[in-house]
Amino acid sequence: QSTATKAPEAKKLAIPDAQTVTEVKHYTDRLFSFRCTRPATMRFRSGEFVMIGLMGDPDPKTGKQKPLLRAYSIASPSWDEELEFYSIKVPDGPLTSRLQHIKVGDEIILRPKPVGTLVHDALLPGKRLWFFATGTGFAPFASLLREPQTYEDYDEVIITHTCREAAELTYGAELIEGLKEDELLNEVIGEGFWKKIKYYPTTTREESAKMGRITDLMRSGEAFADLGVTPLTPETDRAMICGNLAFNLELKEMLEEFGLEEGANSDPKHYVVEKAFLD
Ligand code: A2P
Repeated sequence: QSTATKAPEAKKLAIPDAQTVTEVKHYTDRLFSFRCTRPATMRFRSGEFVMIGLMGDPDPKTGKQKPLLRAYSIASPSWDEELEFYSIKVPDGPLTSRLQHIKVGDEIILRPKPVGTLVHDALLPGKRLWFFATGTGFAPFASLLREPQTYEDYDEVIITHTCREAAELTYGAELIEGLKEDELLNEVIGEGFWKKIKYYPTTTREESAKMGRITDLMRSGEAFADLGVTPLTPETDRAMICGNLAFNLELKEMLEEFGLEEGANSDPKHYVVEKAFLD
């Protein structure tokens, strides 16, 4: 009897850095988000990422299992007692083909060593903060949009999110709508803080209120006209970019044309970039 009760415990201890899943939400057949417990001693800055994953399949020769880990932006703010992640589902992706099936109560591996450049520390003081995202690149901004410092440091926060289909905007749209009811932000920043936010969602492969790539919409001036704002200048504007590789490169070039320079933790400047995770 004693061996029967001990077996599951021993199995649990075999997973290093295990955290327990507390919530899973599916948005489309390509996107889902989940929340898990947070290691008691883990500190991070909103916008940073960590390595998370699952145990891989046993090696056919040795029978040993190795962790299968990928970099994921933390989508929850630094003050949240749990951690949130926003993920793509790739049918043949080594990690996401399995991660998409996690359920409440399951364990994931989380290495508690957060790093990243999409942090307030990497930017010089400014008046307007731009978040440019495609797809799951919205994740670090889900963290920063719930971080009081974002509204303390800037007069205006402009978020653009380009996705293929309208349903892929849901996670971001719901999060931004939810900010109005965010008790902590209303208390710390003051009621109506959310009026500082300008949200500009666009789709490229399905009909929606605004269609087109944000890069094209900025180049033509349409995005600025729609938002009722002036184009970016290094004097007033700061930006964070997180999307697929081609998007990051194109936008980086555009920002440089506006005169903005890339910053880093050790050398804060006008904008920072990070690649969204793709399995
Ligand atoms: P498009 O449909 O025109 O390729 P993905 O899912 O492939 O990562 O793309 C997410 C979104 O990013 C899509 O709407 C896609 O538009 C857009 N996108 C891809 N490359 C670029 C780019 N270089 N500049 C702007 N948007 C891009």
